Amino acid sequence: MKRVLSGVQPTGSIHLGNYFGAIQNYVKLQDEHEAFYCVVDLHAITAGGHSPKELEESTRKSAAIYLAAGVSPEKASVFVQSHVAAHSELCWLLNCVSPIGWLEKMIQFKEKARKQGEDVSVGLLDYPVLMAADILLYNADLVPVGEDQRQHLELTRDIAGRFNNLYGGNKWKKRGKNEKSPSGRFRGKDVLIVPEAFTPKSGGRVMSLTDGSAKMSKSNPAEGSRINVLDSPDVIAQKIKRCKTDAIEGMNYDDERPEAKNLLTMYELCTGMSREEVLNECASMRWGEFKPALTEVVVDHLKPIQEKYEEIMNEEGYLDSVLEQGAVRANEVAEKTCADVRDAMGFVHRK
Ligand code: TYM
Repeated sequence: MKRVLSGVQPTGSIHLGNYFGAIQNYVKLQDEHEAFYCVVDLHAITAGGHSPKELEESTRKSAAIYLAAGVSPEKASVFVQSHVAAHSELCWLLNCVSPIGWLEKMIQFKEKARKQGEDVSVGLLDYPVLMAADILLYNADLVPVGEDQRQHLELTRDIAGRFNNLYGGNKWKKRGKNEKSPSGRFRGKDVLIVPEAFTPKSGGRVMSLTDGSAKMSKSNPAEGSRINVLDSPDVIAQKIKRCKTDAIEGMNYDDERPEAKNLLTMYELCTGMSREEVLNECASMRWGEFKPALTEVVVDHLKPIQEKYEEIMNEEGYLDSVLEQGAVRANEVAEKTCADVRDAMGFVHRK
């Protein structure tokens, strides 16, 4: 069975971009794959100056949203990244095969580093190597993510390829059969699987409500730029009422109209309709008609998720037991890969 791994950072509230870009695919992929979904708390501290109380709350909230959105603990291992120590260990081992120039080229690093100035941490630069460790530890074949993570996925593939080249068995095979790799176990084999990104056709890049050319993001200080999965119907209505529009009558997916295109895509994602069906229903609407219609479908889509979320949070001990069980399975798999990596690199066996 093929493996899937993904994760969301517990920073701020999970919004429709996270949900449609990634979490919906967690649910779709769990039926036919061995799935690992973590809340990446170690990534959340790379921005610097986080609040410990918020980190804890946000980590539990994020895991509960995975479950409320339909991730099933019977089908997938749901866990907290820091509960599996091998993420940090593999990150270190991969740090030593990752050229610093590869990391300095990452768009998200450059953007965040520009904002943070002199306070930028080593952790922020290293963020994508930790992400590569998350993925490679589980030998994941597929990684459901939004478009914005494609560059990090490419880097993960490059790191895995470089590791296999340096320490994998294929290299030793090429050199000649009498020359053995340190353990001899990887002869003719790669140590790490090179993963692929899995991005949705619609929803891979949900845009901001206040600027159709910028992606919806947790870090935008304007709360009105995003709809959070846990927003109340009134808040959703207010945000949609105030969102950016244009002066054109009627609705279409024209690239020249990024706001209309984004909101129609949202309508499509919330109703499960095709583009054609959405256009049949909405093409002749004016903004004044479309906005309440969009509000209704967003509220309806999120209602069962919000109800399930409340149930999960109110059931004493349930979330902790899911996370504990998820971490047990995750640790089993991660420990094994980490041992393989150490073995291939020539570390003395641990008892
Ligand atoms: P994060 O927490 O920023 O976002 C979580 C997921 O949501 C997707 N996403 C979006 N998709 C569509 N439209 C948007 N506007 C939008 N904004 C965010 C992201 O692409 C992501 O899939 N680096 C990751 C976290 C991570 C991870 C991993 C992901 C750490 N380790 C291993 C996959 C596998 C991140 O920052 O996600």
